[in-house]
Amino acid sequence: MKNIGSYPSIRLRRNRKTEWSRKLVQENSLSSSDLIWPIFIREGKNIKEPIKSMPGVYRYSIDKIEKLIEKAIKHKIPMIALFPNTPKEKKNFAGSEALNKNNIVCKALRLIKKNYKKEVGLMCDVALDPYTTHGHDGILKNNYVDNDETIKILIKQSLLQAQMGCDVIAPSDMMDGRIGAIRKALDKNGFQLVQILSYAVKYASNFYGPFRDAVGSIKSLKGNKKNYQMDPFNNKEALREVALDISEGADFVMVKPGMPYLDIIKLVKENFKIPVFAYQVSGEYSLIVNGIKNNIINENAIQESLVSFKRAGANAVVTYFADKIANKLK
Ligand code: PBG
Repeated sequence: MKNIGSYPSIRLRRNRKTEWSRKLVQENSLSSSDLIWPIFIREGKNIKEPIKSMPGVYRYSIDKIEKLIEKAIKHKIPMIALFPNTPKEKKNFAGSEALNKNNIVCKALRLIKKNYKKEVGLMCDVALDPYTTHGHDGILKNNYVDNDETIKILIKQSLLQAQMGCDVIAPSDMMDGRIGAIRKALDKNGFQLVQILSYAVKYASNFYGPFRDAVGSIKSLKGNKKNYQMDPFNNKEALREVALDISEGADFVMVKPGMPYLDIIKLVKENFKIPVFAYQVSGEYSLIVNGIKNNIINENAIQESLVSFKRAGANAVVTYFADKIANKLK
């Protein structure tokens, strides 16, 4: 940067002196339309079950879901992400509950789309981890997640979700080639306008623990996910992931986790003209919430954490704070 002048004729604090002036020079914005709200659903009736590792986040039985949808609409949150907690007895080695048209996600999709066709977008994960006894995102063969066998099932899972009314199919499994395969299958079956949000850049992160608790996969997960999720030491590889997914037909790409990977959001944004979403994951949420609960930080830190994604270039943020903060962001 040249010719920025010098002190004392230049004083950057002048623009910061009053609130109206600070508003005028504000470079980024944050509103409820930047947020995607993840909701955990479970079987049963009239249940709002606290998740121990995520204070303020619950698992809801689906008779409770309409109220949540109303809340999202009222607060102008554009999209909800549904995540299932599957009862143990419905899990198996191949995760076949993922393909049951009466699984909890399918039931919720039908229920919501019956009454709310266009008011709010619905996105669903495509991956098998909520349904497998071993907690991995795909089919295990000799203790290794088999890429091509997994894709065959992910295609079926995607088609099923699309049939049930899902607006945005979100593969979070990190198999190679799945975006192209899913796009092709959707198109062939008349779902040309169903969108795909690729979790293109998903790291093998230590920040997912509370989520695995929420969906009930934490105890069953054997080993780690390093042979399919990305190495936290890498950044250039993220560009290859994104380039491939764009060429295969992704409509948006996700970077995940969020705050430890702001550099990746910026890198992707600078290199591609595709909408980029950030996922402020469960571990980030719980750290902030516990910091607030213990008076280590105050609750304005939530907004500060979210605006960091906007500054980095994200178009929207998946966050468990969505319902809690939307009201404040008008
Ligand atoms: C699994 C999935 C994970 C998350 C979303 N989808 C966890 C994982 O890969 O083990 C994490 C979200 C969070 O931590 O909030 N397909």
